[in-house]
Amino acid sequence: MNFFGIMDEMFKDFEEYQDIQKGKGIRGKLITIIDPNAQKLAAVVESIHLASLLHDDVIDEADTRRGVKSINAKYGDFTAVMLGDILYSRAFYELIEFGSEIAKTVSNAVYLLSQGELEDVKLSNSINLDKDKYMQMIYKKTASLIEASCSAAAISAGLDRDKFALYGKNIGIAFQIIDDLLDITQDEKTLGKPNMHDFYEGKTTLPYIYLFEVLNEEDKEKLMKLYRKKLDKSEKEWIRNKMDEFGIIQKCYNEAKELVKSAKNAIKEFNIPALEIIADKVVDREF
Ligand code: IPE
Ligand code: MG
Ligand code: MG
Ligand code: MG
Repeated sequence: MNFFGIMDEMFKDFEEYQDIQKGKGIRGKLITIIDPNAQKLAAVVESIHLASLLHDDVIDEADTRRGVKSINAKYGDFTAVMLGDILYSRAFYELIEFGSEIAKTVSNAVYLLSQGELEDVKLSNSINLDKDKYMQMIYKKTASLIEASCSAAAISAGLDRDKFALYGKNIGIAFQIIDDLLDITQDEKTLGKPNMHDFYEGKTTLPYIYLFEVLNEEDKEKLMKLYRKKLDKSEKEWIRNKMDEFGIIQKCYNEAKELVKSAKNAIKEFNIPALEIIADKVVDREF
């Protein structure tokens, strides 16, 4: 059985679980490429990831996820929070069987991820223009679990965990930079969630941090006024045009591309083409 099948089996008793749309399964795919015998570990990590998304959609008050109604929108916040807890606790229960090194690696990532989510909330309380803070936060909320996935799979396969961890960390950071870019460049239909929503949520992601660095005073003030505001079509277009004018989308994209290059470099010696393909897909994707 593959990891998605194992998850369905684990959570078959929970009717709300059936309404969760399957994602790309990147973490599970990474794990099973590194260790083809680690389907169960992959199911554990994907369950953790799903749990984090259930909670994230409550925090972000998001109504859609992967093109369908989010669990919080459909059943309310309580159900989403508790279903998240069910996924987390079952995942931790199953994690024990992989031994303390893997269990510590994965559970520490959840500890970091939770801190990252908290930092994300704090950073969105007022406008953040500090790139270092943004990078720290996305490392924790997104890259840490991807890093741990690769590290744990490497331990499981008897490979050099540090090299795979570095690969995971770099594609993880690139993944979130691209997630934040797609929020700006894609439409709602493609994304499966509202577009240009981050700025409305109070998040100054990397493209906004860079945009504030280059705008003149007048435009800076104009952008400031749009912060946390429900944007209409022309306001969205204005932001998009300013980003195009200063080559900001390209700049962020190139930065993600560099991270992917370092990721691939970290595991070059193992010659695993599937990991290079996934790394490339992290930056070259539509949603
Ligand atoms: C990522 O944060 C969520 C987690 C890693 C838990 P976002 O809030 O940016 O994710 P999306 O955009 O809702 O998928
Ligand atoms: Mg979110
Ligand atoms: Mg969030
Ligand atoms: Mg996002």
